[in-house]
Amino acid sequence: MKSKENLVFLGMMGSGKSSIGSLVAKKLKFNFIDIDNEIENNLKKTIKKIFEEKGENYFRKIEEQITLKKLRLHNTVISLGGGGFINKHIRKEILKNHLSFWLNWDKKILLSRIKNSKKRPLTINASDYDLIELIEKRYGIYAKALYEIKCDDLTKNEIVDKVVEIYETN
Ligand code: S3P
Repeated sequence: MKSKENLVFLGMMGSGKSSIGSLVAKKLKFNFIDIDNEIENNLKKTIKKIFEEKGENYFRKIEEQITLKKLRLHNTVISLGGGGFINKHIRKEILKNHLSFWLNWDKKILLSRIKNSKKRPLTINASDYDLIELIEKRYGIYAKALYEIKCDDLTKNEIVDKVVEIYETN
């Protein structure tokens, strides 16, 4: 690894953080960690169940603990949950020590991918308007990532190649 510790993928639900992240990890021969999976394995519950039983604030605390712990690893590709980078402690650590990639898609594409998701607590009772509002509210924060990848006109492989190229020239 070069001057920065890990590669971190961030962005809205449905932006492909996990699938792109795991492909990038494979190409670079790095380990891959998906924070949502880590949370679910740790608590032995789905994220939907955690929200239902303990509420969002509890989920956010666990998300912060697990993300900050995993960021201490090296040579790892880490895909955050959609809200991870919104947390200022997580964001500060990522901006200081890691290479961050925002997978940015047109909001209509994101909306179509997440609106009927039954496993994401934030989308279950949300209207299209609520989801667009959430996407817009988060844009300014996601935009603080070191790199923005505009994904709309790229294939999955092209996105992966772009990230690898950025990493290699860093
Ligand atoms: C969330 C995104 C989800 C998951 C949780 C909250 C968010 O992850 O962490 O449902 O606040 O955007 P994905 O972005 O992987 O769907």
